[in-house]
Amino acid sequence: MAKFYVTTPIYYINSEPHIGSAYTTIVADIIARYYRFLGYDVYFLTGTDEHGQKVFNAARAAGKEPQKFCDELAARFEKLWKDLKITNDNFIRTTDEHHIRTVQHFVKKMMENGDVYKGTYEGWYCIPCESYWNDDELIDGNKCPSCGRSVEKIREENYFFRLSKYTDRLLKHFEENPDFVEPEFRKNEMLRILENGLKDISISRTTFKWGVPMPDDPEHVIYVWIDALINYISAIGYPDNMDTFERYWPADVHLIGKEINRFHSLIWPAMLMSVGLPLPRKIYAHGWLTVNGQKISKSLGNAIDPRKLTEKYGNDAIRYYLLRDIVFGKDGDFSEDNLITRINADLANDLGNFVHRTTAMVEQNFGNVPKPGSSEGPDIQLKELAVQTVDKYHENMKNYRFTQALDRIWELVRFANKYIDLTEPWKLAKDPTKKERLGTVLYNLLETIRLVSLMISPIMPETSEEIMRRLGAPHNMKAEDLKWGVLKPGLLVKHGKPLFERIDPRKWEKVIVVKTPEEETVENVGYITIDEFKKVDLRVARVIEAEKVKNSKKLMRLKVDLGKMGERQIIAGISQHYEPQELIGKTIIVVANLKPAKLMGLESQGMLLAASTEGSLKLLTVDDEIEPGTEVS
Ligand code: MSP
Repeated sequence: MAKFYVTTPIYYINSEPHIGSAYTTIVADIIARYYRFLGYDVYFLTGTDEHGQKVFNAARAAGKEPQKFCDELAARFEKLWKDLKITNDNFIRTTDEHHIRTVQHFVKKMMENGDVYKGTYEGWYCIPCESYWNDDELIDGNKCPSCGRSVEKIREENYFFRLSKYTDRLLKHFEENPDFVEPEFRKNEMLRILENGLKDISISRTTFKWGVPMPDDPEHVIYVWIDALINYISAIGYPDNMDTFERYWPADVHLIGKEINRFHSLIWPAMLMSVGLPLPRKIYAHGWLTVNGQKISKSLGNAIDPRKLTEKYGNDAIRYYLLRDIVFGKDGDFSEDNLITRINADLANDLGNFVHRTTAMVEQNFGNVPKPGSSEGPDIQLKELAVQTVDKYHENMKNYRFTQALDRIWELVRFANKYIDLTEPWKLAKDPTKKERLGTVLYNLLETIRLVSLMISPIMPETSEEIMRRLGAPHNMKAEDLKWGVLKPGLLVKHGKPLFERIDPRKWEKVIVVKTPEEETVENVGYITIDEFKKVDLRVARVIEAEKVKNSKKLMRLKVDLGKMGERQIIAGISQHYEPQELIGKTIIVVANLKPAKLMGLESQGMLLAASTEGSLKLLTVDDEIEPGTEVS
């Protein structure tokens, strides 16, 4: 039996997947189910990436030992995938003992082949991406080109991988295997990097310990990306269980997001070349999702747990929507409004009505799948379209063109609805002499439903099962049953409640409640706009009186001169840091438009600015003479 090995990236364990990152795994699940349906021996791998500085920092912030932190989160990832009905065959964790041994074995082999040397790395590191960058790659001088966050300068003695040595071999591989990286425009990005020549990369770190120790030099831990990439072979037994390994390797497709393409399409293949293993057959780098037009971020409140969406709309509707509306390979937007439109139009209306009308008519007139008689004009058209749709379906699915595959299936569904209007079975039902013709029409419709149901089975498994149940047909049909005429007359047909409920958007409570970018700016990121800053009226003031407030350890009463704005009384918590006489004559900065407040019964008509730590406090002043009342901006 032919095999098919499909992988997702292993997810950084520090934050649980949102609808955007879950996308990779949902699509991988659809691919895995499709190949199982074709009869392949499928191995579908996902897992968690648990080493590295980012995870270590996250564990520390949570006040937990890294291993305990990872154990708890890994369990949550596994539960999420179960809840989303993901059918992975293995869940690898990079803290698995076997994986750690495999990483060391692999790196040792790279060393033995003369591909690893010691040197000094001086450059930039982005912790969230766990990536090294050169000066010329940074954005605005200090921002990571992948995530846009600030990078850290590091200088360390590291082990290096001679990646540069593999430039030519990689170029040759790209040339000889034009489908190695897809989509084409992503391949071209990689080719451009290759044409400029690859540079050696640092593959170890010494500044923290949360990683796989370097063979024979435990002061160094192996760079998390090297560790992580090896998961694709350690999970299938390399090097201890070579039977399984040889059964499934090379991977048929590594499914990844676009931002991690160079790790998968350049570094990973070079690593495999270094140890003499075959390269994966394909790397498919998909685009990124936004949510309702906005970048996914925790602070915007749109980093939605995918379960919230599947609980509200159903797992199948979400899977359908993701494949139908987001063209695989390109960036796309998850829009809840568009999701609702798709549910109403494509699922409730086109598919739901088709199944409902047909099964209801069969139940009323026959009870069972009727026997078809001879075909007439529209019957032939329907059959031909169904057969063509099946052909196109395979072509599109095998080439990761999911949107097109669904488009074609829905053309068939819509034509079948039109076929009902053309053949008018409700009229045939009234005429006892037309019973055979009615049987033929309804058989053709049921057979079309069966084909549609099988084609959508990898994408909408629950809907497909439910439809097959209604047709009285077995659920376990395979791709070889995707031909006209397989449905057996006599099966008991049931029409149940609508497959998909229509949604009235006016009465519907949506899942995604997004904060506006302004809210995000102020509340969450801590930035304010220049207009907001300008609302604060900062002025230079001269202290003209100062005395400690009676019965208060902290408070001092000041009178300040604000020039044309007059004099003000300010009550300030500075008594433990200044004596009154020190203050008189000082030029300080005050907030002149603060709403007056009472402190120990005394009105304070402003606030002075001071820099303070726990033990000391210093007033802000200006560095030379200037008129009291002068604006500070
Ligand atoms: N740990 C690395 C992968 C190592 S594989 C040897 C990693 N992990 S991740 O958790 O950051 O990303 C997991 C997957 O989610 C990646 O495929 C990534 O591209 C994808 N996505 C994360 N946010 C996304 C969107 N907003 N949209 C679509 N996919 C995105 O990278």
